[in-house]
Amino acid sequence: MEIITDIHSLRSRLKSEHYVVFVPTMGNLHEGHLSLIRIAKQKSGCLVASIFVNRLQFGQNEDFDKYPRTLVDDLKLLENYGANIVFVPTEKDIYPVQQEFIIEPLPLANILEGEFRPGFFRGVTTLVLKLFNIVRPQLVLFGKKDYQQLCIMREMVHQLNLSIEIGEGETVRASDGLALSSRNRFLNNEERIEAAHLFKVLSEIKEAIESGEQNFRKLQDIAKETLNNRGWDIDYISVRKIHTLEIAKCHDQKLVVLGAAKLGTTRLIDNLEITVRK
Ligand code: PAF
Repeated sequence: MEIITDIHSLRSRLKSEHYVVFVPTMGNLHEGHLSLIRIAKQKSGCLVASIFVNRLQFGQNEDFDKYPRTLVDDLKLLENYGANIVFVPTEKDIYPVQQEFIIEPLPLANILEGEFRPGFFRGVTTLVLKLFNIVRPQLVLFGKKDYQQLCIMREMVHQLNLSIEIGEGETVRASDGLALSSRNRFLNNEERIEAAHLFKVLSEIKEAIESGEQNFRKLQDIAKETLNNRGWDIDYISVRKIHTLEIAKCHDQKLVVLGAAKLGTTRLIDNLEITVRK
């Protein structure tokens, strides 16, 4: 596995590659990332992963410095899982001057996560477009755990005419259902046990809708009340149409329920897709 830290070397190294599969990450890799690496490995091409903690997507109250940096372990994992190249740029490489040209994403970026993390998706799309321009991949993989991010990436590639295919990986969960996330390490023992309840309430909404319940608002309210009573601080629990993430109507058949809530100081997000059979 080659570790490349500057843009120029990466570009010259990739010149001879015909098919590049790319997995962008912020490091602190867990089974969720590794499942994307596994999917990427099944494609015959050059597998490039990147590790870069992107300051631009952190809000003022979000702790960029606290984000876990575990480069040595990450590199070992990527080597074991067969990555060909890991791109580990410095902040100076990616943002040599103040970033004044910004990808201003769609209205989709201002709802749900965007409402509670203003500027977050702008930071993600601006960085990811830069990475696309540097790596020039044919296929890029994102996890469904960050469902809204995945939808925005698909729409960015479409609206900016990038000839890149966006692939997806299923959310990887612990045995109690908790979606794997770098943030889980901030949960204390008690919170870690409680954390599975976000998945539980989303599962209950999914089951109810798949069994014919059409009153989404009632289901959302019950879920919020349940979590509230258990000490969570909820940002949203919302049933949406897949892809566009518009508010779901009762005749829609392909839905997703998304949730974000804080347990202590740790903010967790999760989602489940729902298929209504008529
Ligand atoms: O999903 C992430 O880890 C990040 O948002 C990404 C896509 C690597 C951009 O920094």
